[in-house]
Amino acid sequence: MMNIADEIKGRCNIVDVIGRLVPLKKAGAHYKGLCPFHNEKTPSFTVSEEKQRFICYGCGAAGDVISFVQRTQNLSFLEAAEKLAEEYGIEWNRGAFDTESKRSAYYEINREAATFFYRAFRSARNPALSYMAGRGLDDAVLKKFGVGYADGEWDSLYRHFTDKGVDEKLLLELGLVSSSKGRCYDKYRNRVMFPIINTRGKVVGFGGRVLDDALPKYLNSSDSRIFKKKDNLYALHVTRQEIAKEDCAILCEGYMDVISLYRHGVRNVTASLGTALTAEQAAMLKRYTENAVLAYDSDQAGRAAAERGMDILRDAGCKVRVLRMTGAKDPDEYVKAYGREAFLELAARAPSLTEYKLAAAREHCDLSTTDGSLAFLKRAAAVLRDLSPVEADVYIRKLADEAHVSEGAIRREVWGADGARASAPVRAPSAVRRRADGGDESAGGTMLERIFIRLMLLSGAYIDRIKPYEKAFSTPSAFKIYSALTALCADDGEVDMRKLEDALDGPDRALLFDIREKVQLADKDEAVFAECVKTLRLSALTDREREIVRMLTVANDEENKERVDTLTRELIGIQREIKEVKGR
Ligand code: GTP
Ligand code: MN
Repeated sequence: MMNIADEIKGRCNIVDVIGRLVPLKKAGAHYKGLCPFHNEKTPSFTVSEEKQRFICYGCGAAGDVISFVQRTQNLSFLEAAEKLAEEYGIEWNRGAFDTESKRSAYYEINREAATFFYRAFRSARNPALSYMAGRGLDDAVLKKFGVGYADGEWDSLYRHFTDKGVDEKLLLELGLVSSSKGRCYDKYRNRVMFPIINTRGKVVGFGGRVLDDALPKYLNSSDSRIFKKKDNLYALHVTRQEIAKEDCAILCEGYMDVISLYRHGVRNVTASLGTALTAEQAAMLKRYTENAVLAYDSDQAGRAAAERGMDILRDAGCKVRVLRMTGAKDPDEYVKAYGREAFLELAARAPSLTEYKLAAAREHCDLSTTDGSLAFLKRAAAVLRDLSPVEADVYIRKLADEAHVSEGAIRREVWGADGARASAPVRAPSAVRRRADGGDESAGGTMLERIFIRLMLLSGAYIDRIKPYEKAFSTPSAFKIYSALTALCADDGEVDMRKLEDALDGPDRALLFDIREKVQLADKDEAVFAECVKTLRLSALTDREREIVRMLTVANDEENKERVDTLTRELIGIQREIKEVKGR
């Protein structure tokens, strides 16, 4: 029997698994990121997609996908393997998982099918070639994407394979043929064929488009043992370098949009595969860039899809902008009608996700009336609630002008009426919040403690900067981690992660791993830190304020004139400071 470890290693791309925990950027032949096993400021943690191994040149940590999960989640070998097997749908108990050789048989068949379609597209004069030419695509670009042609016969592909002795079961499993009443026939007939190739260069599936107005317009491979739609983005094997280079990805709905934009020189493009954008696809994209421009169709369906997609991208930690076209149905039509420059201009001017949502909130609200302003305010507040106060502030000022309401009123609307931010828990960027507040995840440590620990893990510099606020560590486990971190912090500010893990056990250690896994600061560490400090400062100030007010109410001002004067002066000072901190 094939060994389960090899099976897992063959099935989960280490770059995807690590990429979920450690933001990775493509650097030459490898991926780089900040090592999760020791404290560092410049990435020396390297992941090789080819070798399916990681190595850190800083601390020497190295291993494969299973040992990575073992170490980061503090699991035994078996537990880690089991976890990965479950996530990737690998049959664990029955020993029924694919063998490496079987998987390569699938890849081989798909490659052969792609070649078959490609030859058909190239060899004879055929309707697919003229169709694609009619859509303005030239030879170079068609070659680049491996576009092919499935002819109108019922069994060309089927015969091609069975003549070679390929088992039809495999063809059925890959969705290349269908069967009815025990007879097999080609699934794709009379279609332009778009091979779907993963970032490891394997043909994992196909999309096929009709040559006329017949339905269904597109036929896509269904998921198979080697193809999960949710884990793939179209053409990334061609466009990912460009995406990384431009540090921006343009995300479309369809194959034709990608190819057409590429043809017109817009090359940092990709598309989800005929389904709604998934969290996995967003995480994958983020390995190449944090900046995404959604360029979905301009119709109602496209708009709705964009609205779902933007939240998914934001939750993955991407900065999202939303491109809206007029005068064309989709990017393909747009770039053909108005050209590359016009499209790039649209992309450059595309509003940020918040701007887009605020504009949507403004729609149908008559801001010249009180009711209209109020309705707008309510909808806008719901949008801003997703942001950290730092981010929200910029918009609050604009909104106040626009809707003729005070900034205070907007803040109240966004964060509630109780003076809001002073007493509210730290609002970290939405990506952090959604994960850390959710369900059982608040099991250990307060939000503030978790963020502080995350920051200290991120960089030794934060250990010193957080020291003045050590009183904030009120949960025992969090305090233990904090103490261990300060104790282990060497002169150069680096902390040895292994020593830290060794210094902790039981729930303290579990909390450390939990924080490392779930608290993602999405590169906003400075803003988040400022936000935490602000919250602490405010809560200290309001505590003192309450105390003074209490003392003043019980003090007899005849007897303690001097003391009352001092307290009153202090009170005024504190209230002024509260206002100042809040307004910052
Ligand atoms: P063109 O009409 O060739 O320009 O296609 P398009 O790229 O504009 O595609 P469209 O906006 O119609 O659809 C976007 C994507 O949705 C396609 O690339 C397909 O992946 C998917 N899709 C479209 N139509 C169908 C269909 O009938 N069935 C399935 N399964 N998927 C479809
Ligand atoms: Mn189109």
